[in-house]
Amino acid sequence: MSETPTTRRVYLETFGCQMNDYDTARMMRLLETAGYEKVELPKDADLILVNTCSVRDKAEQKALSRLGRLKSLRRTRPGILLGVTGCFAQREGEKFLRRMPYIDLILGTGAIERLPEHIRALECGRGPIVDIDLEPTPSPVTDFGRHLPGKGSSVAAFLTIMRGCDNYCAYCVVPYVRGPERSRPPDDILREARGLITQGAHELTLLGQNVNSYGRGLGDEIDFPRLLTMVHDLDGLTRLRFTTSHPKDLSDRLIDAFAKLPKLAPHLHLPVQAGSNQVLARMNRGYTVEQYLARVDALRAARPGIAVTTDILVGFPGETDDDFRQTCDLVESVRYSNAFSFRYSVRPGTAAAKWPDDVPDEQKIERLINLQARQQRITRELHREMVGGRVEVLVEREQTEPGLPRWSGKSGCYREVHFAGDDIGLGDMVTVEVERAFANHLEGRAAPTAPPVQRQ
Ligand code: 5AD
Ligand code: SF4
Repeated sequence: MSETPTTRRVYLETFGCQMNDYDTARMMRLLETAGYEKVELPKDADLILVNTCSVRDKAEQKALSRLGRLKSLRRTRPGILLGVTGCFAQREGEKFLRRMPYIDLILGTGAIERLPEHIRALECGRGPIVDIDLEPTPSPVTDFGRHLPGKGSSVAAFLTIMRGCDNYCAYCVVPYVRGPERSRPPDDILREARGLITQGAHELTLLGQNVNSYGRGLGDEIDFPRLLTMVHDLDGLTRLRFTTSHPKDLSDRLIDAFAKLPKLAPHLHLPVQAGSNQVLARMNRGYTVEQYLARVDALRAARPGIAVTTDILVGFPGETDDDFRQTCDLVESVRYSNAFSFRYSVRPGTAAAKWPDDVPDEQKIERLINLQARQQRITRELHREMVGGRVEVLVEREQTEPGLPRWSGKSGCYREVHFAGDDIGLGDMVTVEVERAFANHLEGRAAPTAPPVQRQ
């Protein structure tokens, strides 16, 4: 009689960016095919994977403390396997084992598809295993099964179109931990996009560290605006987004796509990082403030009302009070719909790591608070200006708590909207009349639909 294979259980935890959310979903899918099911608590798992981020020191410290706490599970569940994946795993490699000898698997960013074979080896008692080879293996699995890659939504999914980065911004660890830029062939992307739509995705977000340079190395036939149009035209897709864009590669054709492609959401995340030309040059960003502002103007001309969001770094080596004042001026003049600002954190191996980290911590914090207060004020003002107007919302969640608006989702301009309405379902695109503005969301009700035209 053959033995019935027992289902094994995996707990996955993700730190960091959307690329990591996508990679976690891929790992989950690979493990599902290998007989694993997902559990919500580490104590219920036979395998625990922590997908890590290295973009700032704080992200690495968080992962370390999490792994430290997970160690104690070893006492109650001796056979449990513990793995570290993602950027920090890639950066540290073997060194992780010196810090934490109880870890069974160190899996780098290019090794995701090899996860099942490593797990099989570990289950046979081999280990620990370190795989930080950036050379990807073709995937044995081409779909995502039940779990759409993303932030847990059943109607919006992420789709990675390229990996790595060749830009070498002076502060950034990404090129070292995600390797050189590699674009996925368009056929692969379209097949995956169709599959995600069949599984229920109404919205897709195309992901890459610098999507604007998509297609380099794939020949003249394909570039990002062409890929965007191909995905846009797929039947069953309601809304399309992409992130992240590098301002230096934001072409006129891509800006034109915002005018021409109606499903493309009116939102662009365009990280500026700093508002001083001297700082931008030292960061190796490849554009000036003037060039950046001209791109924003062109975008707003192509799609009036488009929301622009950004990332800003404060306290980069050598940043003076005057440099910082220029960043504040830029924030005031662009009026971003949202800005994510960060304190500079030295990343080993990067160009800026050779320079003194000379902005004192108190000053970095002071600048961050100043910038965030400005942005909160601007976001509040923009939200208030939207009261009385209408936004298009993709319905992503149904609220079960009484007294709260029943439906929630994101507007095209990437604002969280809660609203009331009848005859609505998840995945619907609903026009919402905005009635109230809050710091982080809008509230309203579904606009009455026009009565059908009576024909004689
Ligand atoms: N320190 C702080 N923030 C950083 N970022 C990238 N590298 C660093 C660093 N060394 C920020 C940038 C980037 C965002 C994802 O993280 O603003 O756009
Ligand atoms: Fe890092 Fe610059 Fe590449 Fe963005 S573009 S991932 S900031 S090196």
